[in-house]
Parts: sequence; structure tokens; C-alpha cells
Amino acid sequence: MPVCRRKVTVIGAGNVGATAAQRIAEAGLADVCVIDVIEGLPQGKALDLAEAAPLQHHDQVIVGTNDYADTAGSDVIVVTAGLARQPGMSRDDLLLRNAGIVRAVVKQAVQYSPDSILIIVTNPLDAMVHAALEASGFPRERVIGMAGVLDSSRFRAFIAQDLGVSSADVSAFVLGGHGDTMVPLPRYSTVAGIPLPELMKPERIEELVQRTRTGGAEIVALLKAGSAFYAPASSVMHMVDSILNDRKRVLACAVLLHGEYGIDGLVVGVPLVLGASGVERVIEVALTPEEKAALMTSAGSVRGLIETMHNASA
Ligand code: APR
Repeated sequence: MPVCRRKVTVIGAGNVGATAAQRIAEAGLADVCVIDVIEGLPQGKALDLAEAAPLQHHDQVIVGTNDYADTAGSDVIVVTAGLARQPGMSRDDLLLRNAGIVRAVVKQAVQYSPDSILIIVTNPLDAMVHAALEASGFPRERVIGMAGVLDSSRFRAFIAQDLGVSSADVSAFVLGGHGDTMVPLPRYSTVAGIPLPELMKPERIEELVQRTRTGGAEIVALLKAGSAFYAPASSVMHMVDSILNDRKRVLACAVLLHGEYGIDGLVVGVPLVLGASGVERVIEVALTPEEKAALMTSAGSVRGLIETMHNASA
């Protein structure tokens, strides 16, 4: 039987993109093509990663390029291209600049990989998934935002540290937008199957929830230049693994909702089954009135960003 090599393209060879490329190749998941607008950057990082392959014991091909033709035939395309917020740049400026970048890179990439699955990482995440949906013309099943996997990993890490238990035994459930409006659900978060509220006081849970919401900002404040990339790259790797190996993992991801949770036509983070065809099923759970209200607030903030994008392009 011929061997079918799998291929992942990572757009943006910055911190998140290069680290995601490393994680994907070193896990033996796929050959990786890294592309960026800056000449030499993707080539240099790809060469460096390829030179580590003998030591990391993998045979994945890693290529760096500035030419979309080299991305052809990708199974998964990870979009990390974008600008970081500069001093003096408003949130709306950043939104519109990154939306322009995401639209442009997605349009080019999907010409060469029309059957691919897109994983969007660029922030503001939920709005960038909308931009990628429009630019690709792909169905919602194949345009997925990476947010909830990262937010739940942060929440799991904080719970594990606080309780002094292995994070392998901690499972965390988050809904909603990425960042401030994220909706963690402690009653659906467990330690070896035990609901978190049985093990931790409500005030402590609330502190960890708040730390999770501002997890990205906490790292920006420490790094001073740049934002988090190790955990975001690991989150991407887990999504790629679930897709390429058809694991059907239940992961929180940002996806366009068609009436689920009472939301229609907006991208929001929800638990879903991720397999070979992308989003296989959105999982709906019953929410308390407070949780539902928090989710609606989260969806409302995504709607505000979409209106800003549409008004600017009108
Ligand atoms: N085409 C390809 N690459 C681009 C383009 C473009 N049009 N515009 C910018 N890039 C590249 C930059 O050249 C840079 O190498 O995107 C890369 C972004 O890398 P970093 O600045 O290091 O940013 P990073 O930390 O990787 O974050 C990327 O992920 O988590 C989000 O908020 C984060 O939106 C940001 C994105």
C-alpha cells in the first residue's frame, strides 16, 4: 500500500507558528510547511527544526517558504499570521488589520488546499474565524478556532497546582469567547470524575476562573514583549492530532453556531467532537440562567466585533 504522508501548513512563522510546527513535527503527526511574509524567517526556522529531527527521532519533512504553491495539498492549515497590538493601536485597528491579514492568507492558502481544515489562532479569535469563513467559503465544519483548548488547559493547570494533583486527572469545561468573556463551568469541571465544587471553596474557584480569564494578559505582563506561545502551540497540536488521527476528541473550540445554545450565525466557543472531517458534532449541555446569561454576553461581544468588521468593509 502506498504510504500517504500527511501535511500541515502553518501560516505565520512567529512564536506561535514556529512552536506549533515544532510540536506537530516532533509528535510525528505530519510533514509541516511554514509560510510567512518575511523572507528567510520561515526558511530559517524550518531548517533549524529539520536539523533537530535526527535528535528528536522523527522523519517529518519541514519546509519554510514565502510561496503558497509550496503549501499545496495540505490536510490542515493553521493560521497564526497577524500583528501584535502596538502602542497607540486601538482594539478596532488591530481587529481590522488582522482581519485583512487573515482574509488574504486564507484566500491564497485554500486555492492550493481546497479540501483542508482550517484552524484559526490569530486574535481576536472569534472574529478571525468569521473572517476565515468568509474568505474560504468553507462550511463551518472546516473552519475552527483555537481558544477553548488553551483556556481549559490554563484552568486545568491552575486547578492541579492548587490541589496538588496531577493535571492528567483534571478535566475543565469552558464555553464562550476567548479571553475576558470566557465562561468556565466549574460544575462540569472535575478531578478524577469528582466535580470541582466538592473539592474547592467557591471563592477559590472564582479566583482560579478569573486567573484563567486573564491568563493571556498575565503572560503578556511578564514577557513585556510578545504573548503566550508554548501553551497555544500545544493546543494547536492537540487539535491537529484529533483531526489527522480521527480521534473524535471532545474539545472546546470556536465554531459558527446554527442555533445551538440559542445562538445563530455567530462564532462562539463550545464543546464539540473533532475528527477527520473537522467538527463532527456540537455538544449542547443544559445551562443555568446565570451561565446562559454569561454565554449571551460573550456572544454579544463577538457580534460587536463582527459589526465593526462589516462596517469597515461596507
Ligand atoms: N502572511 C504571512 N505571515 C504574516 C502576514 C501575512 N500577511 N502578516 C504577518 N505575518 C506573520 C509575521 O511576519 C510574524 O512572523 O505572522 C507572524 C506572527 O508572529 P508573532 O508576531 O511572533 O506573533 P505570535 O506570538 O506567533 O502570535 C500570532 O496568535 O495567539 C495569537 O494573539 C496572537 O494573533 C496573534 C497570533
